[in-house]
Amino acid sequence: MNHFTFGIDALSSIDESTVRTITARLEEGRVAYLSNMAFSLNKNETQFLSPNSIDNKSKNISYHPLTQQVRGCEHLSAEQRALLQSFMQRYYDYAKDLIQALLPSYVDSLEVGRTSYRPVEIKGRPSSYRKDDTLLHVDAFPSMPVQGRRILRVFCNVNPHGQPRVWNLGEPFANVVDRFLPTLAAPNPIIAPLLKTLTITKGLRTPYDHYMLQLHNAMKADSAYQADVAKMQMPFPPETTWIVFTDKTSHAALTGQYLLEQTFYLPTSAMQDPQLAPLHILETKLGRSLTGRSG
Ligand code: SIN
Ligand code: FE
Repeated sequence: MNHFTFGIDALSSIDESTVRTITARLEEGRVAYLSNMAFSLNKNETQFLSPNSIDNKSKNISYHPLTQQVRGCEHLSAEQRALLQSFMQRYYDYAKDLIQALLPSYVDSLEVGRTSYRPVEIKGRPSSYRKDDTLLHVDAFPSMPVQGRRILRVFCNVNPHGQPRVWNLGEPFANVVDRFLPTLAAPNPIIAPLLKTLTITKGLRTPYDHYMLQLHNAMKADSAYQADVAKMQMPFPPETTWIVFTDKTSHAALTGQYLLEQTFYLPTSAMQDPQLAPLHILETKLGRSLTGRSG
């Protein structure tokens, strides 16, 4: 146990008070580390343990549990794509069952997001600095406004060669905000409706989304910050699972290959303590409301 992570050893020992503690720690910004829980691949799925599973224009394979569409593997046969679809659906079911066991108070309010499979080594992968997840950041996406909702993600390292997924975990969200918020430009009210009309964003980019995106970019752009900020390296070995609110916890993925990830969105009103939401923290610092939604 440290300031960055906490362990969960067995689902069988989880009672009501453990649930409250797990929920509180996650909402504070720690990573829940499940060192002996993993998603296992079926024999016929191990063929996807190759970077050739993705087509050359994608960086991962994505799946949406609601539409059951897989993307990023158009070069595979129909049969292989069907198998990938069931593989991703199985991971979604695994992630959902974990949330049900560990965070039952969220279940009725959670919205399902993308499932992602990442078969490419992250270290040395070419990308622009804004897309470079080897730099510390909090998650915020240009095309996907969350309008205040939390981003909750379930990761599992399925590397078959013993290779860990190594993360850095950075300083608490309030420190990130204190450091970068004074440098960020206020949103321009003309832009957000335009981005929505042009369907550049899926929905309206609220002032909250604007600030979170600016924060994400400013962290990644500041190389002195990246070098000097207090951080802890955390290796997640194969066959381990971890859960984290990636919109609040500063993180970077340094090395690793073969990762599964499921995204969920949670309205802040469904949190055990909504005051711990990035939305609340930013609104308090700025002294204004950042979203029209009550969530
Ligand atoms: C990220 O969310 O920044 C990347 C996590 C990973 O790929 O390990
Ligand atoms: Fe991230």
